[in-house]
Amino acid sequence: MPDGAAVARAGGRTDRYADAIESSLEIAGERGGDLTARVYAVLFAREPQLYGLFSRDADDAIKGEMLAKVIEAIVDFVGERRYADYLIEAEAANHEAYEVPRAAFAAFFRIVADVVREACGADWTRAMDAAWSETLTDLDAYVENRLCEVVGS
Ligand code: HEM
Repeated sequence: MPDGAAVARAGGRTDRYADAIESSLEIAGERGGDLTARVYAVLFAREPQLYGLFSRDADDAIKGEMLAKVIEAIVDFVGERRYADYLIEAEAANHEAYEVPRAAFAAFFRIVADVVREACGADWTRAMDAAWSETLTDLDAYVENRLCEVVGS
């Protein structure tokens, strides 16, 4: 009886990047600890206009919770893809209430990748580089093609 991942592969979905992405996240966690502060520092440096959207999050709890969800979604997106595509679509709609522009989604995924690479330091490999680069391209295409239908822009 094939497991879920095998079914996903047989269905044409690829999880060939899952190992490299997961190892990079593990190493980044071991070396860099909680990446929340760094991810949002980079976000607000690159996209200062988004800072005000988090004004209610004085203790950074929402930021941490959101980053955890985004990382889980990326792992699912490159793996079995049981829910990540639906989650990203749903969050694009939910986040309209927070006035989060669609472009911020691609920017955020890229920042996660950059901060993971930075935290991995010398342990960052070419396989990780290729995996993240392809995954960001896939996520960008997904956000462009699918989310525009959802949020109508
Ligand atoms: C797949 C992508 C995303 C997921 C899964 C996600 C998930 C979440 C979740 C679960 C929360 C609620 C956290 C809580 O209340 O504990 C949240 C809140 C929020 N997210 Fe996201 N998010 C995503 C992308 C983004 C992006 C790209 C931005 C903009 C940079 C953003 C901005 C916000 C803001 C401003 C809040 C609410 C702050 C408040 O309640 O005052 N999110 N997100």
